[in-house]
Amino acid sequence: MRILGINAVFHDPAAALVVDGEIVAAAEEERFSRRKHGKSAVPFSAWELPEQAAKWCLDKAGLAPADLDAIGYSYDPALADDDADGTDEGGWERLRTLYARRAPAFLKTALPGVDPGIVRFVRHHVAHAASAALAAPFGDCAVLTSDGRGEAESYLAGEYRDGKLEELASQRLPHSLGLAYESLTEHLGFHRSSDEYKVMALASYGKPRFLSTVAEHIRATGDGGFRTDPLDWTEFAPARTSADELLPEHADLAASVQRAVEDVLLELAAWLHERTGHTDLALAGGTALNCVANTRLHAESPFERVWVQPAAGDAGTALGAALQLAADFGERAAPMRGADLGRGWTDAELENWLRRARIRYERPADIAETVADALADDKVVAWFQGRAEFGPRALGHRSLLAHPGRKENLERLNDVKGREQFRPVAPMVLADRARELFSRGPIPSPYMLFVHDVAEEWRDRVPAVTHVDGTARIQTVDADDEPALARMLRGFESRTGLPTVVNTSLNTAGRPMVDDPRDALECFGSAPVDLLAIGPFAVWRNA
Ligand SMILES: [Fe+2]
Repeated sequence: MRILGINAVFHDPAAALVVDGEIVAAAEEERFSRRKHGKSAVPFSAWELPEQAAKWCLDKAGLAPADLDAIGYSYDPALADDDADGTDEGGWERLRTLYARRAPAFLKTALPGVDPGIVRFVRHHVAHAASAALAAPFGDCAVLTSDGRGEAESYLAGEYRDGKLEELASQRLPHSLGLAYESLTEHLGFHRSSDEYKVMALASYGKPRFLSTVAEHIRATGDGGFRTDPLDWTEFAPARTSADELLPEHADLAASVQRAVEDVLLELAAWLHERTGHTDLALAGGTALNCVANTRLHAESPFERVWVQPAAGDAGTALGAALQLAADFGERAAPMRGADLGRGWTDAELENWLRRARIRYERPADIAETVADALADDKVVAWFQGRAEFGPRALGHRSLLAHPGRKENLERLNDVKGREQFRPVAPMVLADRARELFSRGPIPSPYMLFVHDVAEEWRDRVPAVTHVDGTARIQTVDADDEPALARMLRGFESRTGLPTVVNTSLNTAGRPMVDDPRDALECFGSAPVDLLAIGPFAVWRNA
């Protein structure tokens, strides 16, 4: 079966293609349109589809729209409650529902030749659940999804057996861990439903001294659900705009809410384990991008293994909708082998881009060695290799790399990227060396979705990637999965004694991650990056 998955209703529009149970392609529209998050999540934009991403997915497989057997749309308008408390935005919720209902007709226009009769609506949280449990590297497992909202709920807990979901609990709106966190994000002067990771980073600077009050309002109810009763954040810290200074009480409030959300998730996970007895837990939904919470679930919940869909936000529901339909048709997808499901180019194509830009380049014997050398010499390197990542993390395909041993490199990279100085950058590390440096979080950890403690004796050796609280959000690199990255890391280690380098996403402030060679050249041309390693080619600044 040839199944296209579409996420369009809120933000992070994305498309994914599953053919005969195999994940062929998945990409976010923002990487094509160059508009971060694709669109804003207002009802007026619900009709907009991830047109370019969907067309590219089909091209990648050599399919025409008429070749598709089914299209999964990750929202079911029949389940929407237009008048529900907490969903209606100024009376416009009906518009969102109407647009979602019309999605088959919009798809017919966007993908000429497609039969609108093949479109199936997949409940939002089922799509999240499938993106986790059906892509995870284990068989039957428990699944927990949590986000801002779906049609009329914000959470689902259940289990997958033989590809079939049994739902055990859900939580209706207005109660929503995601919406509570979003509201705090806004209060702290960041962009809601976009900058939540900044709140998580800020939390590590604070003390959870408001936890007891916050936890009266954000709490599990003991029956697999929870409540998030409204709280006036100004009781704890003044509302802030992005221009205002961050005060200690802002960090303390972030720490308190972060802890309360973690505690609720731990209780939900314990309840789910009790009900299912599974050893493995799969997670998705925007809340699952909270790597501090994920780490507590890994370390403190009764589950032995925790796997998080790398595109845990709404983009991942495109993949989940396709995987769920495949499962409904009796096809069981193979576990996801990596997040590199986006666009890629051949060496010849890359060379054509460089020639066309009339830029001086060279082709060294091994680009990985050239980069290792440059990093050891404290150069900042743009690393563009293979297919682009699906999901918000750069995982060594569209990455910005630097020396982890120089503390000032954190500031240097935050400058390149034009972002706040309290934001940490993360290390990538050889999988077989990770245990020497890092503990607490799971190893391997190929998707940067958990935080780890940096061993005392390493903290001074890798200060650029050690966060203020002694943690790091690591990506482990396995030589079989990522041979070029592993060669680069080994080359760097042989020159410096450090088996790790700084890895952050290849983009500048406010822009989506670099995706195609033009984006790479534009980014390299405008940011103080010393070397662009694009495929086998090296482009040096001032060469
Ligand atoms: Fe969602």
